[in-house]
Amino acid sequence: MSFMTRRKPVEPPPSHGDHQLIRTLGWPHLMALGVGAIIGTGIYTLTGVAAGLAGPGVILSFALAGAVCAFAALCYAEMSTMMPQAGSAYAYSYVGMGEMIAWVVGWSLILEYTVVCSTVAVGWSGYAGGLMQQAGWHIPPQLLAGPHAEGIINLPAVFITLVVTGMLLVGTRESATVNFILVLVKLVALTAFVALTLPSFDPAHFHPFAPFGFGAQISPDGVKRGVAAAAGIIFFAFYGFDAISTAAEEAKDPGKDLTIGIIGSMFVCTAIYMIVATAALGASPFKVFSASPEPLAFILRSLGHPQVAAVVAGAAVVALPTVIMVFMFGQSRIFFAMARDGLLPRRLSAVGARGVPAPVVILTGVVASVIAGLLPLDEIAALANAGTLLAFIATAVAMMVMRRRSPNLARPFRTPLWWFVGPMAVLGCLYLFSTLPVSTIVNFLIWNTIGVVVYLLYGRVKSRLASA
Ligand code: ALA
Repeated sequence: MSFMTRRKPVEPPPSHGDHQLIRTLGWPHLMALGVGAIIGTGIYTLTGVAAGLAGPGVILSFALAGAVCAFAALCYAEMSTMMPQAGSAYAYSYVGMGEMIAWVVGWSLILEYTVVCSTVAVGWSGYAGGLMQQAGWHIPPQLLAGPHAEGIINLPAVFITLVVTGMLLVGTRESATVNFILVLVKLVALTAFVALTLPSFDPAHFHPFAPFGFGAQISPDGVKRGVAAAAGIIFFAFYGFDAISTAAEEAKDPGKDLTIGIIGSMFVCTAIYMIVATAALGASPFKVFSASPEPLAFILRSLGHPQVAAVVAGAAVVALPTVIMVFMFGQSRIFFAMARDGLLPRRLSAVGARGVPAPVVILTGVVASVIAGLLPLDEIAALANAGTLLAFIATAVAMMVMRRRSPNLARPFRTPLWWFVGPMAVLGCLYLFSTLPVSTIVNFLIWNTIGVVVYLLYGRVKSRLASA
């Protein structure tokens, strides 16, 4: 079979019997899972970066990014329940669009998952560094940032990436109870932030509302600014809901529980984000907090609440590592799926005695820690977003292709109004992609060009379908 036409059939659903997962999860569990994986560096740190790009209009950026993600999430839910297997967007593309596209999506997911780990680690470092300074431990500023900010290395970011890598290597998994507690910790911290900043709310901070306009225009300093440009960055705050779809097999009533779980957690997160951003902007002019590596704690300290600032920072320090863990684990699943199909060397995803694919975890941890140690937050967040946007587009297209090609396949969850939701997801993601910095788009294309060369030299020949 020519590699241009290689496509996988939908694999049969997992057999019932010993390996059947028990359907115990209702929508409240699924929502806790989603909110646990979603809330992280996006709201805690990138709120400042995005406010610097949009001004107070960043509130609309949150709404725009949230809406695009909600469309994509519905497509995701249909595909993940139709073929509940490792690989997510990569696996859906293989079935829907064929091997070549699937490879590009998988290669982009590898970039995304690695760089998300680095981004969350840099966000963690901002709060950990602030907390250490507040406790009187003096860390030289050169060890808190990379060369882009006149530092040497962001040491705390390297540290936390390697700690999470180590935890995964000894077999640590997210547990429902720990996740539930951490969701509460994050929500309580954000609620405390809102409660303490609201008394200082000054409507004057909202004028002008969109000082850089509503689109994504390149400013004289070469930076893309505007409400839509900020949406392209703050998009980071919304993903992670794959965590819900991977639990699809355990939902009591997938149709109902997944719809409420996915749409509900998107809705809850969008609402929380818009409230937190409004409170932050009301309490401090955006230009004052946008450059802080720990904007929420910074605002609280500037209002004279150092203890609560420490609580919010503590919540970020305790809760953000699980977000890194979710994505690092996700990375191992992508490698596993690609190696199983023969597109990557099987050695890389070999599972050891502890049930962990050590080579992938170590490789991801080391690369993610180097990136976290040396590169600026906004650049790496934008790169992670580029990979994710491509994966979302691919998932929406695969959903539509499969509806046309195999309308009668069993679908425990069906995207409502698929002929509308699918195109909206694709168009929304394409638009957000176009708002990303030009350098990000160039780097993303370079990464994928390298990917295509690797595919032509390796995957095309070694693919399981090559001998079919
Ligand atoms: N949505 C996740 C975060 O904001 C990736 O950290």
